[in-house]
Amino acid sequence: MIRKNDILKLEITDVSFAGLGVARYSDKETDGFVIFVHNAIPGDEILCRIVKTEKTFAYGIIEEILRKSEKRISAPCPTFEKCGGCVFLNMEYGAELEIKRQYVINAYKRHMEVFPDPLPTVPSPETANYRNKVVCPLSENGKFGFYARASHRNIENSACFLQDADFGRFISTAESFVKEKGITPYNEINGKGLFRQLYLRKAKNTGEICVCAVINGKKLPHENEFAELMKRNGATSVFINENTTRGNTVLGEKYRLIYGKERITDTLCGVKFEISPAAFYQINSLQTENLYKYALSLADIGHDDTVLDLYCGIGTISLLAAKAGAKKVLGIEIVKEAIGDAKRNAEINGIENAEFFAADAAETLEIIEKCGGRPNTVIVDPPRKGLSSETAGAIARLSPEKIVYVSCNPETQARDAVLLSEFGYTFDTIRPFDMFPRTQHVETVVLMSRVER
Ligand SMILES: C[S@@+](CC[C@H](N)C(=O)[O-])C[C@H]1O[C@@H](n2cnc3c(N)ncnc32)[C@H](O)[C@@H]1O
Repeated sequence: MIRKNDILKLEITDVSFAGLGVARYSDKETDGFVIFVHNAIPGDEILCRIVKTEKTFAYGIIEEILRKSEKRISAPCPTFEKCGGCVFLNMEYGAELEIKRQYVINAYKRHMEVFPDPLPTVPSPETANYRNKVVCPLSENGKFGFYARASHRNIENSACFLQDADFGRFISTAESFVKEKGITPYNEINGKGLFRQLYLRKAKNTGEICVCAVINGKKLPHENEFAELMKRNGATSVFINENTTRGNTVLGEKYRLIYGKERITDTLCGVKFEISPAAFYQINSLQTENLYKYALSLADIGHDDTVLDLYCGIGTISLLAAKAGAKKVLGIEIVKEAIGDAKRNAEINGIENAEFFAADAAETLEIIEKCGGRPNTVIVDPPRKGLSSETAGAIARLSPEKIVYVSCNPETQARDAVLLSEFGYTFDTIRPFDMFPRTQHVETVVLMSRVER
């Protein structure tokens, strides 16, 4: 029987979906008992201390590395071992890309027997400083950072390896401001304290920066001074976001501009986009351009095509499809601010063949009926939970020739692909994209085509 604090000699042979090293331990009593080890990678031989046991598996930490994996590198971050952000920072990048492809294979295998072999993972052009957005909680010591793995304990770090190189100076300035003005950090347990998070977003191609102080109240003391300090650091917009809810929702619904423009502007694939702080925007800008170009190449849009872009955000894919020559593009998205941005983005780019609707994707059929123009191509890019069965059914009832499915969760994508295949769609390709280097997340783009019967 394996117990807490046991020290076991293990060989790491695999990686879990959460990015933990996996070993199988056998002795007289147990055969192939699974042990997940933090920060261990395939090829490592280690002494492992068991920290938690469950009925069929256990968790461990590295006590000593006896033999290093050939893929091991030293992690260029002092908080890597504790932080919940990165899991592959101690591994050669090529090995990470292959693991992500394997994640996709495993996810599809859980849902179906036959599927196309996923293509090699498209590497990210940048593996450091690629994140154009961070949301950093303030610790009780008045330092910004990130949450520890699987917890809401703060790991103080103002210089995350993944975040844009400009963010560090905003973080340090905000820390000095909070200290100097005696502003209390928010405490999640008792709901007291004011400053919750510092949310930063940068438009990579224009350099514009949005700073947002998330507070448990309406007003930040000395907020004009805060705005002035952020402006001096180069902020384009400074907002106060009011979040007085308990629980762990990060952003409240109310944003109040205290300096600069309502929206920062970026460009992607040569199109201009204005972005509200409440709207979704892909976090790895260079790789997003690769992802969008690939998705549009699969859509292969012609001049007679009507395209539906479901979960369209600020209209990025929609407007690129419209520019690619579609007869008409319809974008549907649930966040009103994002649809406001999408409409404005069509206007500032002089694009007239795109229309946008603020609605739940499940209402797709009613919207299409209202505005006419049955789509022959549907592009979907849902959140991690994937399509609802209602939405999958609505897409299938539209009977488009092609469905391009962009996903940040291969597990739900594979589940939805089964649903769509029941309506007569087959797979052509599965292509993983590394949008989130050094983390366990992977993006995939899949083309499904209607089988003529
Ligand atoms: C992964 S993002 C993709 C956005 C966009 N395609 C892009 O690349 O920027 C998913 C989007 O779906 C939206 N969303 C979430 N649930 C939705 C729903 N039920 N109906 C419509 N849109 C939804 C989110 O607000 C978010 O903008």
